[in-house]
Amino acid sequence: MRIAVIGSGYVGLVAGACFADLGHEVVLVDNDQQKLAALQAGRCPIHEQFLPELLDRHRGQRLQFTDNLQEAVRSSAAIFVAVGTPPTDQGDADLSYVESVAREISGAIDGYKIVVEKSTVPVYTSEWVRKIILRNGAPVDSFDVASNPEFLREGTGVTDFLYPDRIVVGADSERCAAVMREIYAPMTDGSYYKKHDAIPRPDRAQTPPPIIVTSTKSAELIKHASNAFLAMKISFINAVSSICESVGANVQQVCQGIGTDSRIGPRFLNPGIGYGGSCFPKDLMAFRAVARECGYDFRLLDEVIRINEEQRHRFLRKIRNALWTLRGKRIGILGLAFKGGTDDIRESPAILLVQSLLQEGCHLCAYDPAAIERTREVVGNKVEFATNAYDAAAGADALLILTDWEEFATLDLSELKRKMRYPIVIDGRNLYLPETMAARGFSYYSVGREPALADNQSTRASDNPQGATRKA
Ligand code: UDX
Repeated sequence: MRIAVIGSGYVGLVAGACFADLGHEVVLVDNDQQKLAALQAGRCPIHEQFLPELLDRHRGQRLQFTDNLQEAVRSSAAIFVAVGTPPTDQGDADLSYVESVAREISGAIDGYKIVVEKSTVPVYTSEWVRKIILRNGAPVDSFDVASNPEFLREGTGVTDFLYPDRIVVGADSERCAAVMREIYAPMTDGSYYKKHDAIPRPDRAQTPPPIIVTSTKSAELIKHASNAFLAMKISFINAVSSICESVGANVQQVCQGIGTDSRIGPRFLNPGIGYGGSCFPKDLMAFRAVARECGYDFRLLDEVIRINEEQRHRFLRKIRNALWTLRGKRIGILGLAFKGGTDDIRESPAILLVQSLLQEGCHLCAYDPAAIERTREVVGNKVEFATNAYDAAAGADALLILTDWEEFATLDLSELKRKMRYPIVIDGRNLYLPETMAARGFSYYSVGREPALADNQSTRASDNPQGATRKA
């Protein structure tokens, strides 16, 4: 099928490259000339596993790039809209890009086409897109609007797209649903997964994935409700971790105990310094705004957001408790990205903590495998940057672990201790076992578990009978 994807940001680029890999003819549309030039020259603008391979595989063949939206629409049967929906000052989604794209699409409709919302948008957006297209002259039976939300996580976007738990399609006519089914047929009939050069299957993937066809409004709600639920799960376990700290329980054991209930499940139950990124914070605000507009006061979401902010403040208090005063202290920082596996620092709790520590007068030396350049754009030369974890720790009064990069979970602890001024590690991602750290001579503070002090070995061995540390 000939498909146009409008907007070559994170979702558009991943979706476009994956549609090409499924066998479709894709044209990616963007009005950013620099980005287009970079894509045409073979550069991949985001840090995303398998994306460079897919772009190399299909560039100039099944994947074209253009700034000519109308021509792309005329040559396509399905038009996916993946433009930005940034938050306004009030927290609701700014849909002006979606609206202007809908207007432009209208003028190019010259036969039956489907217009598919791929960006995360509030419920009712599909109705508005439909109205705008009609208002600008497209005949009523010449198009349908569908909603096809994406559940991509950054860093694993390509595998999340090609091996999803489910495909959600919101379509209000059978004709439209049939086109959507055809687009995803290589996945739903399993043929893609038999190809010798298919992107490798991740652990836990069930193929073929189910396709869930709903009304467009339900599909729009599914996306917001899914992200809100996941954020709620994280805030829930973060709240439980605070109680664990107060009573001397171990949140890792509590997670194991509740996560094995199949109704709850173990994933997205990792306590830490709070969720960040370009989706959860924005989508929660937008969902709250949507609920308010519909006359429902969704106070649960306020609480999810409040707990998330409080988690960072608790972590700051933990640093203060470990170090007493902060002014003039040299602190090593491991991790700046909002999670491991990405260079994205948008709404990163690590960056917010870095900013608070700078305000407190700390001297910071930070290392992140991918996010240093982006951080430099935000903090300038107020932070020193190291080229590896050990250099970030050199001479430090304490080392903070703020992002769950795999390489931070396998550090050479002897080398680390040798480099530091004082062997104090404050781990916001629970990457180590307290008793291991104490045995290796560290004072170790983590989330929802008792501190393990090197001096008096206060951690009880019975706290972790299986020695289990992190899970999914
Ligand atoms: C999220 C959704 O998972 C995805 O479905 C949606 O399409 C976009 O938003 P992403 O923002 O890439 O994806 O990151 P995700 O892996 O979900 O993590 C979000 C944040 O929550 C990160 O800051 C992460 O560190 C944090 N997190 C996640 C926790 O603190 N604990 C957990 O158990 C899981």
